[in-house]
Amino acid sequence: MTTRHLFLIGPMGAGKSTIGKQLASVLGRPFLDIDLEIVKSTGADIQWIFDMEGEDGFRQRESNMLMRTISSSTPSVIATGGGIVLSSDNRNAMTTAGKVVYLWVTKQQLYERTERDKKRPLLQVEDRKSTIDLLYEQRDPLYREIADIVFRSSSFHAQQVAAELADQLSVI
Ligand code: S3P
Repeated sequence: MTTRHLFLIGPMGAGKSTIGKQLASVLGRPFLDIDLEIVKSTGADIQWIFDMEGEDGFRQRESNMLMRTISSSTPSVIATGGGIVLSSDNRNAMTTAGKVVYLWVTKQQLYERTERDKKRPLLQVEDRKSTIDLLYEQRDPLYREIADIVFRSSSFHAQQVAAELADQLSVI
């Protein structure tokens, strides 16, 4: 098992936060969620940041927070936002600072899991499925580019998924 940070990457609705929390508890490591850390440090929610500063403003905050979490000397489980891989600096920072797990789920699962979403600015559109498809085509190659493990869970239970993942991580 790596003694460095573990990054969870993947699209909105892949379960990065839920599984990350469970995984951190299985491994006895701190859990950090980049989006949540942004919200905590700004006192504003993600939608508000998108509204006031646009996606570019959010991406800047996201990169800054990634660098901040990486600088923690305690090896942690770090859940990232779906768009973190868009920046090559972010991709390099993650591969340099630890191991990267791509949580892969089917598009159908993404459609279902984001069906009632009201919080993700990029999904508050008329044709949510097309947006998910488009983001998937753009980002799947980037997730794969930096992933040490592409993890496809066979279970729907976060605890079970985290246990399976911890098992796979024991060899890296
Ligand atoms: C985004 C994903 C979100 C959040 C923001 C943008 C994206 O995080 O960072 O709404 O570009 O895919 P989750 O993947 O945790 O939903």
